[in-house]
Amino acid sequence: METEYIKLDSASPDPEVIGRAGDILKRGGLVAFPTETVYGLGGDALNTEAARKIYEAKGRPSNNPLIVHIADMEHLEAIAAEIPEKARKLAAVWWPGPLTMIFNKKDIVPDATSGGLPTVAVRMPNHPIALELIRAAGGYIAAPSANTSGRPSPTIAEHVREDLDGKIDMILDGGEVRIGLESTIVDFTDEIPMLLRPGYINMEKLEEILGEVLIDPAILDENASRNIRPKAPGMMYRHYAPKAQLTIVEGGEKEVVDRILELAAQSRREGKSVGIIAADETAEFYKDYDVKNIGSRETDKEIARRLFRVLREFDDEGTDVILSESFETPRMGQAIMNRLLKAAGHRVICV
Ligand code: TXA
Ligand code: MG
Repeated sequence: METEYIKLDSASPDPEVIGRAGDILKRGGLVAFPTETVYGLGGDALNTEAARKIYEAKGRPSNNPLIVHIADMEHLEAIAAEIPEKARKLAAVWWPGPLTMIFNKKDIVPDATSGGLPTVAVRMPNHPIALELIRAAGGYIAAPSANTSGRPSPTIAEHVREDLDGKIDMILDGGEVRIGLESTIVDFTDEIPMLLRPGYINMEKLEEILGEVLIDPAILDENASRNIRPKAPGMMYRHYAPKAQLTIVEGGEKEVVDRILELAAQSRREGKSVGIIAADETAEFYKDYDVKNIGSRETDKEIARRLFRVLREFDDEGTDVILSESFETPRMGQAIMNRLLKAAGHRVICV
């Protein structure tokens, strides 16, 4: 299939193009579009056949459920069976925004979209192209991140083209996304809300509004397994993964720099090409290597926005080995490290 690629003004997208993209979705086709977090691969959330096509285009297992994107609050009532007061409070502050909430679903949401679960994930993205496209498509767009399953999520339209060209009807290019990591996911199907995926909205911000918030043990397990040494087999399944072998080095600043330089020299002696991911504060120490400065630890939003892009750039360059500093920054550190650890298959060296 021929994939149409269209550049749009993010602030005021051409209504003719949005109308055409909406028609494609209404007919069961697939359109990739920008959101403030990452690019999404959209299909009609209430159409089983569209959901099936999304799984196929991404190469994603069909029991991994899709997020339903809405643009208006009335549409939440139509797909969620119970909406607790706390969820309404969170939505009042953070929707539209980088927040996904899980509710018990109504029957109108097909099993294909919910991956067979009795629940549905819902998000109202904060991006003019996304919001207008959702309305043009009839109100409900199922959209996973627009990458091939297992690869880093796309933060520019070119990433979507790399992964999905020829497999979907249209790509809407709205430039680079603002946040760069996927939405924070909070489950509201039990008494106490539970964080399932860390994102731009961190625990502190959630607790400000919700009071007590639990954390999915899977996220904590990941933290616990960070002490594994390089030769230990990765405990969890690799995701967001670059083609290169990625190792995170964690510890005091000087120790980290020394160990990364040592490992880089060793890989180079073995004839491997080496890439290094470093913060602005330490990047200069690695100038003999292909070092990518991911941004300052002081402004960790920049680190979050650049992470997936940097991983893809190393892929494009055919890098064999990537060594990365660790970024446990206070604001977005949990979200950044969650993705970086998955990308590394939990290969961490503590120094
Ligand atoms: O920022 C985002 O959320 C992006 C943009 C495009 O909106 N979307 C995104 O979708 O990251 P995806 O499919 O790549 O990740 C959705 C995650 C998956 O881990 C999935 O398992 C989980 O949400 N999920 C979806 N529905 C769920 C449900 N009913 N219960 C628990 N987890 C769910
Ligand atoms: Mg994804």
